[in-house]
Amino acid sequence: MADLFDVSGKVAVVTGGGGVLCSEMARALASRGVKVAVLDINEGQAKVVADEIKANGGEAIAVAVDVLNKASIEGARDVVLEHFGTVDILINGAGGNKPEAPASDTMSFFDIPADAIQWVFNLNIIGTILPTQVFGKVMAEKGEGVGINMSSMAAFKPLTRTVAYSAAKAAVSNFTQWMAVHFAQNYSPNIRVNALAPGFFLTNQNYYLLVDKETGEPTQRGHQIISHTPMGRYGEPRDLIGTLLWLVSDAASFVNGVVVPVDGAFSAYSGV
Ligand SMILES: NC(=O)c1ccc[n+]([C@@H]2O[C@H](COP(=O)([O-])OP(=O)(O)OC[C@H]3O[C@@H](n4cnc5c(N)ncnc54)[C@H](O)[C@@H]3O)[C@@H](O)[C@H]2O)c1
Repeated sequence: MADLFDVSGKVAVVTGGGGVLCSEMARALASRGVKVAVLDINEGQAKVVADEIKANGGEAIAVAVDVLNKASIEGARDVVLEHFGTVDILINGAGGNKPEAPASDTMSFFDIPADAIQWVFNLNIIGTILPTQVFGKVMAEKGEGVGINMSSMAAFKPLTRTVAYSAAKAAVSNFTQWMAVHFAQNYSPNIRVNALAPGFFLTNQNYYLLVDKETGEPTQRGHQIISHTPMGRYGEPRDLIGTLLWLVSDAASFVNGVVVPVDGAFSAYSGV
């Protein structure tokens, strides 16, 4: 049974690999013998992650990329192919929210700037589609591969205030299903595409919403989240790893087009 989860020797591209959740994924894959290309717009952060992997005996490269710029992604693809020869796994991890985009006490929904809404849509959905065009083509040509997108609880049920991010992540879930069908029907049944929908993980992108910057205490929203998470805590990045290793390996050989919540039962809880 152990072989079912064997991913050693595969090549993974992880966008947003310098970030909190995806750096953990990059390290976990590398520890299983996967060659990892850590792609991030923050090249310095990607390099920190790749260097750490190499210091621990793994294989990794850091590549600067802007997931919103196709020429930049194609340049990154060329670097990956030159170093590792192929791509087996694509993790579309780059994504996030912006303080100006949610509605709040100081920002009425009616006044949210169009460019803030567009920024969130671009990063989360366009930033998933463009890398899929570039790296998905490599998989289509060889008739094999695995895609993992990063959705969110906000895609299952929109979160109060979080208007653009909820809609953009709903689009990521929808695209995950579309992509699974399209690749299986047009290129190969051996290309699978699924998404993770993390619950609430305390990271850079939501810290300002969940922790009071003056006192360091949980905000009212932070309290609401924990009280609606039956397991009573935030997720830790390592909580995603088991699901990731399942989805990228042959253990999930017939699992295609699903969005898997990793959320401490947040999505199961009616609130009563
Ligand atoms: N933190 C959570 O609770 C949570 C919950 C659900 C989903 N997610 C999703 O998981 C993913 C990772 O989240 P995180 O909390 O680790 O965020 P993070 O901000 O730590 O990481 C995101 C990374 O993406 C990179 N990035 C931003 N714009 C880019 C661009 N244009 N091109 C390339 N890279 C770019 C950033 O430099 C950063 O390293 C995101 O898609 C996020 O929306 C997070």
